[in-house]
Parts: sequence; C-alpha cells; structure tokens
Amino acid sequence: MRRLCLLLMMTCGLAGCKPSGPQPKPLNQLTAHEKSGYNVFQQHCVICHADRNDSNIVGPPLMGVYKKQYLPSGAAATDERVTATILHGRGMMPAQANVLGDEDLSDLLAYLHTL
Ligand code: HEC
Repeated sequence: MRRLCLLLMMTCGLAGCKPSGPQPKPLNQLTAHEKSGYNVFQQHCVICHADRNDSNIVGPPLMGVYKKQYLPSGAAATDERVTATILHGRGMMPAQANVLGDEDLSDLLAYLHTL
C-alpha cells in the first residue's frame, strides 16, 4: 500500500496531476489589491461568470482568463480587451462603466490575473 502511494505521488509529480491545468491563486494568498478585486468581482461579475471553476453561468467562465492567449470571443486576452469588455459590454453582457470606478477596475483586473 505504501509503495502504491509512493508510486502515485511520483507519477503525479511528473504529470502535474492537477484536476485541469493551472489553478487560481488561493484566496488566502491574495494581496490587498487583488482581494479588493475579488470583492468587486463578487459584486459585479459573479452572477454571470464563474471565477474559480469552468462552469458556464450566463457568460463564459473567467478562470484562467489571462493564462490563455485568447478570450472566448477570439480577441487577445489583454488588459485592454478585458477593460473594453467591462466598460462597453459585449453581446448579452451589460456595460459596467457606470458602476465601476477606476480603482475598482484596476483592482478587478489584478484579481482576474490571479485566476
Ligand atoms: C448580466 C451578465 C453579465 C455580467 C454581470 C458580466 N458579464 Fe461578462 N459576459 C457576459 C456574457 C453573456 C458574455 C459573452 C458575450 C459575448 O461574447 O457575446 C460575457 C463575456 C465576458 C468576457 C469575454 C469577452 C470576450 O471577448 O470573449 C469577459 C472578459 C467578461 N465578460 C468579463 C466580465 C467581468 C470582469 C464582469 C464584472 C465586471 C462581467 N463580465 C460581468 C455576461 C455578463
């Protein structure tokens, strides 16, 4: 039994054995800036987007959004694109320009980078 465990651990070590790719930074390791962004996300985005798993709610999941090269639409995954999406909306996503201040937006982007 111990042998089997050891073998599993070794194989996992090599293969990276995470459920599916890189995981978001743990919540308890967020900086103050990122933590504020987490709060903004809970207020303004979480009803439509999953941040820490890959389920589709109203919009596409945002887990790993900056770890991929492209956004779900095919646009480059850059701060500029994401900011434009947030400020102007997209398709069924309402614009958030009137509800988010500059600081909220910068906190939010910092949080999205941890996903
Ligand atoms: C009312 C639901 C709703 C809310 C609230 C919402 N979104 Fe979305 N979001 C969507 C939908 C639907 C899409 C898919 C739009 C499309 O491509 O047609 C989307 C797409 C996106 C995309 C991908 C854009 C692309 O180019 O593929 C990003 C990034 C995003 N949302 C971020 C956010 C963030 C950050 C917030 C919080 C400030 C937020 N959204 C709030 C519904 C929402």
